[in-house]
Amino acid sequence: MYQLLRSFLFTQDAEWSHDVTINSLKKTGGTGFDCLYKQSIPNKPVELFGLTFPNPVGLAAGLDKNGECIDAFAAMGFGFIEVGTVTPRPQPGNDKPRMFRLPPAQAIINRMGFNNKGVDYLVEQVKAAKYDGILGINIGKNKDTPNEEGKNDYLVCLEKVYQYASYVTVNISSPNTPGLRSLQYGEALDDLLGAIKQKQLELEKKFAKYVPVLVKIAPDMSEEEVTQVAESLIKNEIDGVIATNTTLNRDKVAHLPHGNEAGGLSGMPVRHSSTEIIRMLHQALDGKLPVIGVGGINSAQAAQEKMDAGAQLVQIYTGFIYRGPKLIKEISEELEI
Ligand SMILES: Cc1cc2nc3c(=O)[nH]c(=O)nc-3n(C[C@H](O)[C@H](O)[C@H](O)COP(=O)(O)O)c2cc1C
Repeated sequence: MYQLLRSFLFTQDAEWSHDVTINSLKKTGGTGFDCLYKQSIPNKPVELFGLTFPNPVGLAAGLDKNGECIDAFAAMGFGFIEVGTVTPRPQPGNDKPRMFRLPPAQAIINRMGFNNKGVDYLVEQVKAAKYDGILGINIGKNKDTPNEEGKNDYLVCLEKVYQYASYVTVNISSPNTPGLRSLQYGEALDDLLGAIKQKQLELEKKFAKYVPVLVKIAPDMSEEEVTQVAESLIKNEIDGVIATNTTLNRDKVAHLPHGNEAGGLSGMPVRHSSTEIIRMLHQALDGKLPVIGVGGINSAQAAQEKMDAGAQLVQIYTGFIYRGPKLIKEISEELEI
């Protein structure tokens, strides 16, 4: 069924297909029409961050940026769902076209630029959803907020989403917001994470609920940089890390149509570098923080690679676009955890 739908959608513009799909899922999620994609996934629980994940396969951030299809993705059997990236104020993102498929490489290049309807809208969607499973909310900064004030955008979002999230992800690794990735390094990182930690503890008291905070990092880092990030995560008592976001590297796709579009590359070409970052992180963290592995997972074997490198959970985006909901089932059934 998905193959049929995909063969039509892949003849259309990538972002148009995305919007049509999101609108259909928004309309059918939580209704009887979700039988079109509903599936039952065998229980394979993972305990992490004080939460019980029913299975280790999550939806990665960016597919449901506004939290409009939570019930639909829940029906597909994801063990957890991450919505966002959301920013304090709504913003349109970059000019179109800004999303490109590279089918020979099972890849996507995107330069969406955090297009989203703002944190207040997302919170309303989360409140309206019937889903009571594990929900991550991924937060970022507005494009027109100067980088020096970026910290404040994260704190505003953290405060607004805190009580509605099972965990919050601090996204400092999108390549499509100018300067954002500089927050991954040195003093800027320590300063941001220190402020986030302090706010998290304040909110814990206020809501009598501890919500874990995770940080999402890029694959384009040296071993030394990964080690420094790991030190800062430990020092600031961050709860976990998601590795990785999309890559700027084009070595594997430069020869393909759209292979040199600006933006972040995801899917098969990022699989290996994401896994290597997870391996480095796992070593540098010495088991002190859990890692969620994401990047190029398009099969149970690719997911297993991430787990073997040190991840405790996985997320999928591009593999899900190419393979559909059956990928969740396949990974969940075959993964050895
Ligand atoms: C079109 C598109 C939009 C994305 N938007 C976001 C986003 O808003 N926030 C985020 O943290 N990651 C975003 N990502 C990155 C994915 O969550 C994921 O980390 C990355 O694509 C690698 O996984 P994959 O190879 O399974 O796609 C986006 C990816 C794609 C393809």
